[in-house]
Amino acid sequence: MPTLSIEGRRQLRGHIRVSGAKNAVLKLMAASLLTREPCVIRNVPYIGDVLNMIEVLEGLGARCQLDGDVLYIEARDLHPEAPRDAVRRMRASIQVMGPLLGRLGEVKIAQPGGCAIGARPVDLHLAGLRALGAVIDERHGYIHGRAAKLQGAEIHLDLPSVGATENLMMAAAVADGETVIRNAAREPEIIEVQNFINCMGGRVRGAGTDTIRIRGVAGPLGGVDYTVIPDRIEAGTLAVCAAVCGGDVTLSPVIIEHMEIVAAKLVEAGAGVEVNGETLRVFGDGVLKPLHIRSQPYPGFPTDMQPQVVAMLTRALGTSIVTETIYSSRFKHVDELRRMGADITVDGRVAVVRGPCRLSGARVEASDLRAAAALVVAGLAAEGETVIEGLEHLDRGYEDLAGKLAAVGAKIVRRVPTEAAVP
Ligand code: EPZ
Repeated sequence: MPTLSIEGRRQLRGHIRVSGAKNAVLKLMAASLLTREPCVIRNVPYIGDVLNMIEVLEGLGARCQLDGDVLYIEARDLHPEAPRDAVRRMRASIQVMGPLLGRLGEVKIAQPGGCAIGARPVDLHLAGLRALGAVIDERHGYIHGRAAKLQGAEIHLDLPSVGATENLMMAAAVADGETVIRNAAREPEIIEVQNFINCMGGRVRGAGTDTIRIRGVAGPLGGVDYTVIPDRIEAGTLAVCAAVCGGDVTLSPVIIEHMEIVAAKLVEAGAGVEVNGETLRVFGDGVLKPLHIRSQPYPGFPTDMQPQVVAMLTRALGTSIVTETIYSSRFKHVDELRRMGADITVDGRVAVVRGPCRLSGARVEASDLRAAAALVVAGLAAEGETVIEGLEHLDRGYEDLAGKLAAVGAKIVRRVPTEAAVP
């Protein structure tokens, strides 16, 4: 299997281009199933999750073509059963439920698998779809949904689930009458789904607030040509790399409003942060102060940045406290960080990070996407060589992270064993 080798303790200098947002693109790909007309999505990152979602859409009968960062999707003739293997590989494939129920009146999909970051049920997705009139049967590891015609409804989510909000927006876009989603998630990616559906001729408003109103359209939705927003988590990860290494790095494009809490925490930690339009500059000497962090739904501190920040805080001068409120088990990176010399204790959902630690390079293994990113941050901060295994996790969500970091001075190389390199 390929590994990433990092020789740490080098300052970073230069500019890095931020790719399109994974967690928006995957939902726009699902939303493309709402129409028979061609859809074009631009600024698509070349990452494993996008390739996997292409497999899901193709398995449903859609035609997809990825040309550079432009993805063409044409879902003229669809059938309702999603391909099991591709679905089991990625939880986001559950997002095809809403569009398929809306368009075909039927969907059959494997239950999404367990996850390295804790239990991730889909009960809120299913309760919402039932409220829209779908009959849903869960049997033999599959979810089977049917609906002669979805009907608009008032839905109050028990918690502001990102995926449930998006699934219900897509289903409601073609339902009869009006749907109101209360306690909706407010993440920027939800606004992307709203904008995409509206560009197709849908009528959605309120995304970005906790109440979203969707008026179902009677006629078919049309095709769309849409450019996705920059990835706020990729940008945040790169900003953390710059803060921990020291130096002077600019990141663009970013939507600064999406980066506010991460930028504020970096400033609190003592990093230099400047904003100039769509460019975020992170600079300093790598000397950092401890933080108190609590992951929260947007606009709170993103859980998807928690592992990277824990890795960064091992270098801070003092004790940091990091509380994970979204996932039950998102501290798997801590064991690997300890192998590198980090002094971290975890009690339930709280990690106490005692810094500064002299991290030393070690052979470590990534357990999920953001844990992999945390190991990259630690490798950049450590003395000696760090070798990261489990790169398939990193590749799911980061477009050429190693190449981007190497271009600003990191000593980081991807090693592919010779036998694996032979096609
Ligand atoms: C999205 O997952 C992101 N994934 C996640 O990013 C991100 O961590 C998460 O939102 C929170 O911001 C994509 O967009 C593809 P949720 P999603 O539904 O939609 C519980 C990454 O690293 N819940 O808001 O699955 C659930 O168990 C990934 O890029 C239920 O109980 O997140 C979790 O504890 C990881 N029942 C919490 O809500 C449900 O039906 C948040 O889940 C749904 C969710």
